[in-house]
Parts: sequence; C-alpha cells; structure tokens
Amino acid sequence: MLIRLMLRLACRLLLLATTVTIFTTSPATAGDNGAVQTPSIFAPASTPAFAIRELALIVLGITGVIFLVVAGLTVYALMRFRRRRDDDGREPPQVYGSPQIELAWTVVPILIVVVLFLVTARYIFAIEGRPQSPEALEVTIVGHQWWWEIRYPKLRIVTANELHVPVSDPAHPTPTFITLQSADVIHSFWIPQLAGKMDVIPNKTNRIWIDPQTPGGYVGQCAEYCGLQHAGMLLIVAVQSKEDFAKWAAQQQAPARNDAEVQAGRELFSSLSCINCHAVRGTKANGVFGPDLTHLMSRRTIGAGMIQNTPGNIRSWIDDPASLKPGALMPAMKLSRDDLDKVTAYLLALR
Ligand code: CUA
Repeated sequence: MLIRLMLRLACRLLLLATTVTIFTTSPATAGDNGAVQTPSIFAPASTPAFAIRELALIVLGITGVIFLVVAGLTVYALMRFRRRRDDDGREPPQVYGSPQIELAWTVVPILIVVVLFLVTARYIFAIEGRPQSPEALEVTIVGHQWWWEIRYPKLRIVTANELHVPVSDPAHPTPTFITLQSADVIHSFWIPQLAGKMDVIPNKTNRIWIDPQTPGGYVGQCAEYCGLQHAGMLLIVAVQSKEDFAKWAAQQQAPARNDAEVQAGRELFSSLSCINCHAVRGTKANGVFGPDLTHLMSRRTIGAGMIQNTPGNIRSWIDDPASLKPGALMPAMKLSRDDLDKVTAYLLALR
C-alpha cells in the first residue's frame, strides 16, 4: 500500500519535472507577428533578471535540501516505526524536554532564514544601487487603465504598449532607465525576462532599469490587480540592434503623415470627440487620456496586446472597443458605416 503510494508520488514528481523543463526551455518571446507566448523567469535576457534567476536557484537549492531532509526523515520514520503484525499495542517511550534538540531546531532555522535574508538583500542592493550611466536611454512609462503610455523625453517620442530599446552589449552596456508613474490606480510593471516587478503608484515615481543582451521580443504584463482589464494590460518590449533602434526612433520622431487620399477621414477624425483623448502630432488632436496615434500602424497590437493590429481589427475597435476588450474606457463611436470607413482609412495611414 505504502509502496504503491510512493510510486504514485514519484510519477507525479517526474511529470512536474518534465513540465518545468518544457517551460524553462521553450522560447518565451513575442514572435514577429506579435504573437504572445508565455514568458519565463528561467529564461532571462537582462542583468536584473539574471540576478533574480541566480537568487531563485540559490533559494530553491536551500529549500530543496530542507525538503529532502524533512521528507526523507518522515518517510524513514513511517517505514521504521510502522505498525507491525507482532505489535503489542503499548505506547512507545515518551521523551519530554531535550535542550539540545530544542536548541538545534530553533537555531538552525533562524540561521537559514538569516542567510536567505542576507543573500536577498545583497541582490536587491546590487540591482537598485546601479547608478544611471550617461549613455543610458531614458524612458518614462505611465500606467493607465488598461494600457501603457511610453515616453522618451530626450528623443521626443510618445508611443504606447510597445517599448523599443537598443540591445546592450555587456562589454559596453547601454541600459535603459525607466521612470514609472501612474495616471489612475496602482499597477505593477513586470517583464519577467528582463527585470523584477516594480509597482506603478499614483503620485509616486519609481525607477527600474533593464539592459537586454539578446535582440528579440519580450512580453510584459501588469502584475497588480487594477480593474476589469488587469489581465489585458500587456506590454511588448522590442529589443533591437543599435541601427534598427535608431531607424525606429527616426520614424517615430517624424510628424504624422498627411496623405491626400485620406483627407476626408482626417477632417472627420478632427471633428469627432476622438481628439479629446488621442493625440496625432502636428494636428489639433492633442488628447492625453488615450494612446498617442501619430504612428499607430507601426505597433504590432491594439488594446495593449489584446488583438493584432490589422485593418479589420482597427475598424472593429473604433466601432465598439468593448466587443474586443470588455471594460475598455474608450466609448463606442457609433459612426455610420461610411464614416467608420473614412476614420479607419485615416488611422491606417498613420504609419
Ligand atoms: Cu494595470 Cu493590473
């Protein structure tokens, strides 16, 4: 009976181990098409995340040894002192008060906790104490219900939900220092493969930094419950070569396109309440409640990672955002089909 139970437990553990391996070895990035895959803290790509994995493995190692010792002793006691056929049913000798044993099981756990505390504190101070270097890129990210506003104050770029940063060569690091603010409630900024979590708090400025060393797409997620669409508040981080990042920045700095063929849509957009919430640089649209649309079509997703940025989805979003993201604070625009086509055509031209 006991042996069967242990066999079953061993099977469970084996299954768990393979699942963990699959999770830790699968590429946890956003594909080129913006498809979002599950990110893993065991596949780090930036200094703070490397340090966090190191710390996690140390803690797992120490607690793993404790688990093995406790579970081993338990199993040993179960086997060694189990009820036997020739058992006489008498109570075994009862031991009361042993200063040595009591001292041991008080002092040893305290020492273990102190070690874990000191190791963790060392990592926290090492990460938080890094000074901002002159070559660091500065970004301000503002959490909104339920999207991320992304500003590059020195580059004069404003975008949303898609953070672009240059890759950081460990020999000549070019980290990105991020200032975090909130426009409404408490959010939490978390890109598991790049850094730890940092709360995003109204009326308080927090800082975090990353130095991604491998180009690619990384997925971030709001990690503090912030309302209905808390789970629909994703962030894509595009880590690019220095050349690609410079190209992207130049494209974002350019004023909004002024295509003649979407003149009707542009005029209609300017006459609607869209401009109270959205900005299109160089036009009279200068709202700040919603995402900046100057280069809307350069982004992979809309609705903060909810859906792919395709012409059909843009049209559906303008028509009724809540059908794609229930609770989204943008109201349905209730346009006629003809007007909807015109505004869609205008937005599609904002590349
Ligand atoms: Cu923002 Cu949860």
